[in-house]
Amino acid sequence: MKMIDKIKEYIGEAQAFSTQNTAELETFRIKFLGSKGLLKELFAEFKNVPNDQKKEFGQVINLLKTSAEEKVKSIQEALESKEESKEESKGFYGDLTRSPEPVIIGSRHPISLVKNQIIDIFSTIGFNVSEGPEIEDDWHNFTALNLPEYHPARDMQDTFFIQTNPDILLRTHTSSVQVRYMENNKPPIRTISPGRVFRNEAVSSRSHCIFHQVEGLYIDKDVSFADLKQTLLYFTKEMFGKSKIRLRPSYFPFTEPSAEIDIYWGLKTETDYRITKGTGWLEIGGCGMVDPNVLKNCNISPEEYTGFAFGMGIERIAMLLYQIGDIRMFYENDVRFLEQFKSSI
Ligand code: PHE
Repeated sequence: MKMIDKIKEYIGEAQAFSTQNTAELETFRIKFLGSKGLLKELFAEFKNVPNDQKKEFGQVINLLKTSAEEKVKSIQEALESKEESKEESKGFYGDLTRSPEPVIIGSRHPISLVKNQIIDIFSTIGFNVSEGPEIEDDWHNFTALNLPEYHPARDMQDTFFIQTNPDILLRTHTSSVQVRYMENNKPPIRTISPGRVFRNEAVSSRSHCIFHQVEGLYIDKDVSFADLKQTLLYFTKEMFGKSKIRLRPSYFPFTEPSAEIDIYWGLKTETDYRITKGTGWLEIGGCGMVDPNVLKNCNISPEEYTGFAFGMGIERIAMLLYQIGDIRMFYENDVRFLEQFKSSI
């Protein structure tokens, strides 16, 4: 075969070459372009070529050279860009030394925080927690609590009735849970009942149709009004760090005698003046000695046992503790409001 045809064959080989592999590419490069490669040999041969063939010979060698060079360059580029995209896909796992995105965790609702705190305080002195249904019957919400039908005090608590059945209603207080507890347990009884209650009231910054209460009940032999006062005093000390309370005579159908619970908040700051209307005193709930009729209704002998009960609004306590001016904030679920309680978890 003539030398020139051999070179043309090499050109064809170089142009047709393809690989995905750097090692193969390197073998190809050494074969054609290496220091002991084909082109080196062919250029060395050049001086032996007869003069009249030199021109054509020179052209084919040059074509072989550029073909081989271009091939190496284009395959190299292709392999490099493949390598890069591999690196990018590795990036899916990220840079493992980079600090992570912050994990956003939720926080407990202030009502739950305060409720749990109240439960803790009372469980320390032996109260357990009892719960009952939010949809109640007339007996547990009213009648058993010494509020027979047509009793005017029923109006104290604007009730949501279920239209199709006037015997069924949304409980207006958690005293209904205490009736259920007394029906099912024998004294001594020491229980608190936290829960959601419903009243048909105009919504404002200070009142809402749905709110939360904690009521307490203590029934045993010889329970006195002094025990009630001492228990409430212990609670206010633990909850608010305040050590002065006053029990103001009041009326509830289910307790006799009855009282409103006031705590002495003080008049140190402007806020103290505002929230206590300049008196220094704040009302936080109601209480009293369980009316003998209520005990009878729950099959507990009023001759043998006496007891006290108290009730307070959780929102009101949370508003005092966290200085929240509007009760509606508890129900709007605005994360900017809720996030402020994170540190209290
Ligand atoms: N049940 C009363 C209310 O909802 C509060 C209370 C409970 C008062 C127990 C006295 C004794 O207002």
